[in-house]
Amino acid sequence: MSEQSVNIGICGLGTVGSGTFKLLEKNAALIAARALAPLQVVHVGARRDNPDCDIGDTRLSRDIFEVARDPGVDILVELIGGTTVAKELVELAIREGKHVVTANKALIAECGNEIFALAQAHGVEVRFEAAVAGGIPIIKALREGLAGNRIEWLAGIINGTGNFILTEMRNRGREFAEVLAEAQALGYAEADPTFDVEGIDAAHKLVILASIAFGIPLRFESVYTEGITRLTPQDVDYAEELGYIIKHLGVAKQNGDGVELRVHPTLIPDHRLLADVDGVTNAILVEGDAVGPTLYYGAGAGARPTASAVVSDLVDLARDLGAGQSCRMPPLGVAADGVRDLPIVPMAQVQTPWYLRIEAEDRPGVLSKVASIFSDLGISIEALIQKAPAEGQTRVPLIMLTSRAAQGLVDEAVRAIEALDSIAGEVTRIRVEALDG
Ligand code: HSE
Repeated sequence: MSEQSVNIGICGLGTVGSGTFKLLEKNAALIAARALAPLQVVHVGARRDNPDCDIGDTRLSRDIFEVARDPGVDILVELIGGTTVAKELVELAIREGKHVVTANKALIAECGNEIFALAQAHGVEVRFEAAVAGGIPIIKALREGLAGNRIEWLAGIINGTGNFILTEMRNRGREFAEVLAEAQALGYAEADPTFDVEGIDAAHKLVILASIAFGIPLRFESVYTEGITRLTPQDVDYAEELGYIIKHLGVAKQNGDGVELRVHPTLIPDHRLLADVDGVTNAILVEGDAVGPTLYYGAGAGARPTASAVVSDLVDLARDLGAGQSCRMPPLGVAADGVRDLPIVPMAQVQTPWYLRIEAEDRPGVLSKVASIFSDLGISIEALIQKAPAEGQTRVPLIMLTSRAAQGLVDEAVRAIEALDSIAGEVTRIRVEALDG
């Protein structure tokens, strides 16, 4: 083994920064054996100390840009988050000829096209395994393990906080706000937790996965994004009655000459493995044309799992540095058959089966009016539940599962149903995914 160490600068000493520092210390010997060189943290940039992380006599700068300017640093690890200071920091490090490892999905999803172009121009690499699904090595699986496949689609539970909230609400009947506060205390949630519950964090991760899977540029602005804040316990219960579990999914799918990119609550059949993915755990199901379906499951957030992914990138880069090689991995947005920019399929054309909940007056003829709206539009009803009205109530919920139908058609049906005088309020709509090919 070469005795020359690979020198690391870590910027940000929060949950992931301190987890990374500690993991590099704890497993130093085995990491050095795998990286073919010791990995030495020589400089930490942090605006404030972390009482949970003793960095000993490692050089500390309050100005994180000092780490990017330090000629002794080979690889800069960006763990401060956000897309402003983090972007400046990463760009400075690249211009200074340093490789970069980051866990920052917002930065990669929103500014990645620019950052990768800059890195390529300076002959350095930017790695981001920790940006998607915490400790699950899904980036490496897509780039290396599945490199021989055309990826048909992928669907994943890729926000741990959202999945933790949905699981606690379903299994323990806990309140949304209380579970969110717990996720924040455990270090799972984003600095701005609306990113978790409104689907933005999942959208960041989905565009990164889609870029690798389909070889397209990062298209964050094109993702359809719907969060979990409007889900009701009623819908969770009716879905279960129909044999489905509601999960918040990110879905990327080849569709003709285009690609579907969407994040939304989804009914999935209760016998699918994804239906059993609970708590902060993430899982991604990937369908490759040669391998068929493969499932990647594990901790999607937290200090140690995320540090595991950061360190895996450091080990990879250190090996490349030792071998005098760069760019072992294809840059993001490069498919086996070259760079291409597939159009994103408009949501109005995206077809799925649908779960619909309609609040209707309990009067003769209402159901037949609703059914005729669907039949006029060629949408078939696959299952139907109608409950007796509760004591003293005149309204009943009609719960329907439809056949596959384009969102545009379903929008039309919903507008017509909401216009009936026997229907109260808005129709609830949730997409269904069979996840079977
Ligand atoms: N807030 C994210 C989550 C952290 O809950 O999944 C990991 O990206």
